[in-house]
Amino acid sequence: MKHSIIICMGSSCFARGNKNNLKIIEKYLAEHKLDCILSGRGCTGKCCNGPNLVINGEAFERVDPESLIDLLDLKLRG
Ligand code: FES
Repeated sequence: MKHSIIICMGSSCFARGNKNNLKIIEKYLAEHKLDCILSGRGCTGKCCNGPNLVINGEAFERVDPESLIDLLDLKLRG
């Protein structure tokens, strides 16, 4: 199955963690050789719940590096 991840690259989400989350995701996808389209998007006004990202159409909020790995394991390899 082809997966998709959309990560918010708006300045608030980016500063609050998606800068780092993006690197973690890129590394994770490469390591596990996953078929996944990774794309960025702009702010959708939900900055207060950020950093935000969407995995396979499902939105996730306040994604920190620790929960991100668990999330990727669950959603992409679960
Ligand atoms: S910067 Fe991500 S929702 Fe605003």
